[in-house]
Order: sequence, then structure tokens, then C-alpha cells
Amino acid sequence: MIISGKELSARMKSDMAAQVAEFPEKYGRVPHLAVVLVGDDPASVSYVTGKAKASEVVGIKNTTIRRPADISEAELLSLIDGLNADEGVDGILVQLPLPKHISEAKVIAAVDKSKDVDGFHPLNVAALWQKQECTEPCTPKGIIRMLKSAGVQISGKRAVVVGRSNIVGLPVAKLLLDENATVTIAHSRTADLPSVTRTADILVVAIGKPRFVTADMISDGAVVIDVGVNRDPETGKLCGDVDFAAAESKASVITPVPGGVGPMTIACLMENTIECFLRKMK
Ligand code: GUN
Repeated sequence: MIISGKELSARMKSDMAAQVAEFPEKYGRVPHLAVVLVGDDPASVSYVTGKAKASEVVGIKNTTIRRPADISEAELLSLIDGLNADEGVDGILVQLPLPKHISEAKVIAAVDKSKDVDGFHPLNVAALWQKQECTEPCTPKGIIRMLKSAGVQISGKRAVVVGRSNIVGLPVAKLLLDENATVTIAHSRTADLPSVTRTADILVVAIGKPRFVTADMISDGAVVIDVGVNRDPETGKLCGDVDFAAAESKASVITPVPGGVGPMTIACLMENTIECFLRKMK
């Protein structure tokens, strides 16, 4: 079975559109997401465009603010201050990665916690790890949604997460733990990685290496979630961290790239924007 993130995210967006259509009458306006893009990295430009398109479908107001790659850290922080202070802005997303002369940690911490639709602010991260109300990071949230929509039982299962990034690996491990999986986090220094990934009932791969996970690393019947978005070095086409053609025959459930986790991340970003808006209105 292939889980279509494209279809599931389309359903989520259409449900949200119906919800948002009632907001002008209920609250006087629609949610407003501000997206900040520094520089012109093609992948980042394409992600930001996807976010603007999804906002349009859902009926969320989107303002994309572009700044040159040589913007100073102080200027960027001051731009964020302005968005924090703007009562008409409900969500702020600063597209990562940022140019090397800018501290991502400082920028992430500068975003008002209540407008942090990414769930990256240290206080949101702390709340997540303490099981308090928080904004859940979009990609991990989307992954749990996909598993549930496919009817995958998580409780009691062995989950292996390959990758330990702040954006995906760590938070998805925590969400899987909250669903009562037994979670292992593996990474580039893990000894004998295939023997670890083969223990997985649920394998989540987020390491950013094209077709890194091969059939011999997957146990029969495993559920495989591929978070990778890579350019195939030979064809230039998008491909995941999992060798899909090989893995498909062993996995019971698998997500494709493109059309898997990616669109779910964007749908969850829309949800998070609505959540931030509603918390403010209520
Ligand atoms: N870059 C890659 N993924 C993300 C994400 O989820 N949010 C932001 N802000 N930047 C990213």
C-alpha cells in the first residue's frame, strides 16, 4: 500500500477551507501567515511557493516577504520584531536554511512563541517534550497523520527514526513515543545501521541522502516513511532517502517522493496557522 500524501493533504485542505470560510463572520477576518524568505535558493523558493499556493486553497492570507541573501542579522531580527508586533499577523515562518552569517537559533527564538507556526521556538520545543500544549512541528505532525490515516497501529510497535535533526528526527521520535511506540533514533554514526533499521516495524527516514535505504535494510512488512527530498544525481529528478522501487516489495505500507510527506508538511502548516489564529481569537 502506498500512502498518498497528496490525496490526504488535499482532503485536509478542503476541510480547512470550509472551516476558514466561516471565519470572517465569526472573527471578522481570516488567518494571516507571513513567510520570510532570505536569498534565492531554488529549493527554498519552491517550498515557499508551495506554502503560498496552499494558503490560497485554504483561504488563509499569505504574505511572502523576500530579502536578499546579504541582509544583516540585525535587519532580519528587526523585520521579525515588526511581524511579532503586527496584530494582523497570526503566523510567522522563516524559511530555513538561512545564510551562514545569520544565527538560525537567534532567528528562531526571535519569533513570538504564539506565532511560531513551525513549532521551532525553544519554548514550543520544551512544551512538546513535556507533553504540554504546543505547536507541533509540521513534518512530524504530518507523518503521524499519514500513519493514522493508513490505519497503522503505532502503540507497542518498534519505530526506528533515521536522522536526528531538530526539524524532523527529534520531534518525530517524540511524537511516536507519545503514541506509545518503542523508539530508536539512529544516525550517521550508528554502528551497523542495517541491523538497526531491520528491527523497525515503522521506519522513518530523514537523512537527506538519495536512495540511502535499500531493500536489505527493511524487514518484511515494515511501514516505511520517507522524509527525504533529494535530486537524483543521475536524472536530476526528485527522489527520497529510500530506494522506493526496491523497498516497495518488502514494505507493507510506504510513502512516495514526491507526493508523500512533503504535501502533508504544508497541510499541517496550514493547520498550525489556523490553530495560532484560533488561540488568539478565543
Ligand atoms: N526548511 C526545511 N523544512 C522547513 C520547515 O519545516 N520550516 C522552515 N521554516 N524551514 C524549513
